[in-house]
Amino acid sequence: VSEPAPVRVYLATPSSLQEPDRRAWALALLPADERERIRRFRSERDRDVALASRVLQRRALSATSGGAVPPDAWRFDSAPHVRPRIVGPTGFGALSWSASNAVGLAACAVTLGGAVGIDVEPARDEAPMDVVEAYFAARERTSLGGLTGSARARHFVEIWTLKEAYGKARGQGLALPLASLAFDPTTRPPGFRVGPPVVDDAARWHLLQWWVGDGHCLALCAAREGATPPVVSVVWDALA
Ligand SMILES: CC(C)(COP(=O)(O)OP(=O)(O)OC[C@H]1O[C@@H](n2cnc3c(N)ncnc32)[C@H](O)[C@@H]1OP(=O)(O)O)[C@@H](O)C(=O)NCCC(=O)NCCS
Repeated sequence: VSEPAPVRVYLATPSSLQEPDRRAWALALLPADERERIRRFRSERDRDVALASRVLQRRALSATSGGAVPPDAWRFDSAPHVRPRIVGPTGFGALSWSASNAVGLAACAVTLGGAVGIDVEPARDEAPMDVVEAYFAARERTSLGGLTGSARARHFVEIWTLKEAYGKARGQGLALPLASLAFDPTTRPPGFRVGPPVVDDAARWHLLQWWVGDGHCLALCAAREGATPPVVSVVWDALA
C-alpha cells in the first residue's frame, strides 16, 4: 500500500524581510513584473506581507519540484477569488498548493497529492456576531453561544479558518454556502459535517488546526487518498 503524498506547510514572518539585504534577496527571487507590483504598494506593512507571500509560494513550489524550477520561473494564471494555476513550466499538473497571508504571518501548503487549502487569521478580541448569523451552521452557532469573551472570539477564528481552508481546497473560496459546513474545532482532528446544497463527503478531507504563537490561527484542509492521512510537516521560519 503506498503512502499518501506528504503535505509541507511553509510559514514566514513578513517582518523578517525588512532588513535591506533580506529584502533585496527576496526581490531577486521574483520575476520583474511581480517585483514591480510589490514596489507599487504604498503601505510598508502590506508590501512586506505581499513580498513574503510571493517569495514563500515560489520557493515552496521550487522545493517541491526538487529544485528543477528556479523560484522566478513559475508562471501563474490568477484572477481575484479564483484558485491560481501554474501555467509554466509545464509538467507540474500534479502539484497542489494554497497560500494565505495575514499581517505578521504568511503561509503556504504544497503537496504532490490531492487538493489542499490553507488559511491563517489573526486572533480577535471579539466574535463578529453578524458574520456568525450569516455564515455559521446551527451547531456552530450553538457551540459559540455557550462561550463568552475571548473564548468565544478564539472559537470563532478557529471555525472561520476551517471554513476558508476547506473553501480554498475546493477552489471556491468563500463563494461556497458557508452555513452548510459545520466544523467543530474542539476535537482532534476537528469535526466536520457537510449539508445540502454542498455535495461532498467530509471523510475525504484531512483537517488540521493549530495556533501559531498566540497571534494567529492556522487551518489546513488536505484531500485524503485513502484510510491513511497524509503526513504534514512544517517549516516554521522559511524566509529567515
Ligand atoms: C479565496 C478567499 C477566501 C481568500 O481569502 P482572504 O482571506 O482574502 O485571503 P488569504 O490571504 O487567506 O488567501 C489569499 C490567497 O487565496 C488564493 N485564492 C484566491 N481565490 C481562491 C479560490 N477560489 N480557491 C483557492 N484559493 C484561492 C490566492 O492564491 C491568494 O493568494 P495570493 O495572495 O498570492 O493571490 C477569498 O478571496 C474568496 O473566497 N473569495 C470568494 C468570494 C467572493 O467572490 N467574494 C467577492 C466579494 S469581495
